[in-house]
Amino acid sequence: MINMRIVTTIAQAQAQPNAKCRVLVPTMGALHKAHGEMVRVAREHAGHDGEVALSIFVNPLQFEPGSDYERYPRPEKTDEEFCEKAGVDLLFRPSVAEMYGDDRSVFIEESSLSNTLEGKSRPGHFRGVCTVVAKLFNILSADAALFGEKDFQQLAIIRRMVRDLNFKTSIIAVPTVRDDDGLACSSRNQYLNADEREQATVLHKALFAAANAGKTSARDVVDLARKVIGEAPLARIDYVEVVDAETFQSVDPVRANSLLALAVVFGKTRLIDNIRLG
Ligand code: PAF
Repeated sequence: MINMRIVTTIAQAQAQPNAKCRVLVPTMGALHKAHGEMVRVAREHAGHDGEVALSIFVNPLQFEPGSDYERYPRPEKTDEEFCEKAGVDLLFRPSVAEMYGDDRSVFIEESSLSNTLEGKSRPGHFRGVCTVVAKLFNILSADAALFGEKDFQQLAIIRRMVRDLNFKTSIIAVPTVRDDDGLACSSRNQYLNADEREQATVLHKALFAAANAGKTSARDVVDLARKVIGEAPLARIDYVEVVDAETFQSVDPVRANSLLALAVVFGKTRLIDNIRLG
């Protein structure tokens, strides 16, 4: 039986005994199957002498004004039990006041990969993500950290931050985890009502149909994906784009390293997903 340590202050986190290898799973809580998979992969990387740390922090800096920061689910007790069961060694669950002083004035901003897709639709989002992730790496002395491929652009931006600012943390990508009907697992899925949840399965159908149709024109790939999404009357498309999976700039025709990425809103819930092409 593992005794999970729970810490809520930066001082407590930094006073933890040094682990041989600490692998971090950064989250905003409302934990689900994909987080369970991340903890499993983290455990493998940490090995017998290492430890798995998981952070839960709904980071206000990465929510644009008017988005779902206030209503973002915060099921504290359930998350704690989830972590214990999954075998997390150290749970870091700070408050907003603990993470950000009123007079904060240093932020981390990536200025190239962030200009398209999520960065374009959600100005300031990646600045908030980079800033909090850098803080978490430092606070928890993370030797490695895991990020899901569902947030493919986030993963690439974190890698770029690590490279350009010489963090010692290695970044491990975890493939997207899907529910049985194909919907990518996300804490936001729980906002969906029954109709929206059912119709949201068009996202993976659109991605797989477009990726497997053998089309080389990016425009045709996008058109096909849009057509499939259009079969769900509740879907409102934010973007469907083919980009280079390293630069996140639009590409046409499709190349070996292309990514089809989309963001679609169902009711008040914005979902993202992606698939590699080529
Ligand atoms: O992907 C997320 O859940 C968040 O963006 C992260 C990496 C935990 C930073 O708040």
